[in-house]
Amino acid sequence: MKHTDIKALAGQVDASVTVLGWVVTTRTSGKIAFVVVRDGSGYLQCVVSKRDVTEEVWARLADLAQEASIRVVGTVRADPRQAGGVELTVTDLTIIGPSVDFPISPKEHGTSFLFEHRHLWLRSRKQVAIAKVRHRVFQAIHDFFDGRGFSHVSTPILTGSIGEEAGNLFATEYFDLGQAYLAQTGQLYVEAACAALGRVYCFGPTFRAEKSKTRRHLTEFWMVEPEVAFADSEDNMRLQEDFVSYLVARALDQCGEELKELERDLAPLERVVPPFPRISYTDAVATLNRLGSDLVWGHDLGGDDETLLCKEYDRPIFVKNYPKEVKAFYMKENPDDPRTVLNNDCLAPEGFGEIIGGSQREDDHDRLLARIVAQGLDPNAYGWYLDLRKYGTFPHSGFGLGVERTVAWICGVPHIRETIAFPRQIHRLYP
Ligand code: 4AD
Ligand code: MG
Repeated sequence: MKHTDIKALAGQVDASVTVLGWVVTTRTSGKIAFVVVRDGSGYLQCVVSKRDVTEEVWARLADLAQEASIRVVGTVRADPRQAGGVELTVTDLTIIGPSVDFPISPKEHGTSFLFEHRHLWLRSRKQVAIAKVRHRVFQAIHDFFDGRGFSHVSTPILTGSIGEEAGNLFATEYFDLGQAYLAQTGQLYVEAACAALGRVYCFGPTFRAEKSKTRRHLTEFWMVEPEVAFADSEDNMRLQEDFVSYLVARALDQCGEELKELERDLAPLERVVPPFPRISYTDAVATLNRLGSDLVWGHDLGGDDETLLCKEYDRPIFVKNYPKEVKAFYMKENPDDPRTVLNNDCLAPEGFGEIIGGSQREDDHDRLLARIVAQGLDPNAYGWYLDLRKYGTFPHSGFGLGVERTVAWICGVPHIRETIAFPRQIHRLYP
């Protein structure tokens, strides 16, 4: 259908154009009406003067409800007070699809009401801004790895081997082969691809039947997982700080309008540049104890611990070398302290916490087998994974960045459920 995107109107001052979109707000004062329209590319104020339009068109304004879809014809006028620098002087307006009693009004609604109406709530200004930032982050992820010679590998969602914790799997019957699990991670498969291609990443939805109801947990979330051959734990952290800084810089560069809409304080984002401070888990426990946490060595950091620790720094941090017991079987033992592993988490500031988990992988066949057995996993399911340590084993490292947590941090929205179009949580499968 012939029309012009709102975003393109700035270059079309004085032209007569057709715009297709949805009504955001309407306001009439006497012989003049203001209709704000959204088309996904931007927002446009349309000005209707009674004297410039037919009586029929003027009468239609009475039916012009929030979220009706419309076709507007008019002349583009420069107006520096408007967000896009233009407004439209309307000559014709038709309703494509009416919208009677749109459930989400500009007044305040409760969270559960909004999530029940998520399919409609997606249209609101703030949600549109978050969706745009998310899109930019996805694009930036591919650009970053492409620019560094990585190949994108698609790893399976239906899997036979448990990648992370056995406790939080979604299982489904799989023909005559017993149970398949929805992937918690693509890592094990991307490690195999790493030996073929050197530098690889997978990027897809991952699933965890976590009973956590925190603002940082979904049961379905997107994770990007690079894996690098002949990279150790130090190389791994350098890649992570470059990557995170790149994502933030791209958002600052490309999402100015969205971040403004979200009222995001940009100062903390502007400080996101390498190097990120590196703190050992053992030192982190000591610092946290000094700050009042009762965390005991050997336990994982909780969300509150992460927030408390991050307050000591002005940018994201790495906490490295966690105790073996709290981390996954595939992490390589730390030769300097065998109670710990060569891993790191990357914690985002301002209370957002862990956005990355990464590690150097165990590349010794027998040690890896021992770890699989010790964790009560079935070695037969890992035959193929152990093969990677039999045929040309190689030091390698990688990490996983949670996209929703990263977008939440960049946008400054406290709960990650707003950063994905249709969040999946323990108590939410509708819509
Ligand atoms: O630390 P995790 O569990 O690491 C892995 O899955 C590794 N296999 C990654 C790798 O080395 N290739 O998860 C990585 C990240 C977390 O830091 C977090 O950002 C995100 O995934 N994440 C979640 N995001 C939302 N909801 C959940 N339930 C999440 N669990 C993990
Ligand atoms: Mg983790």
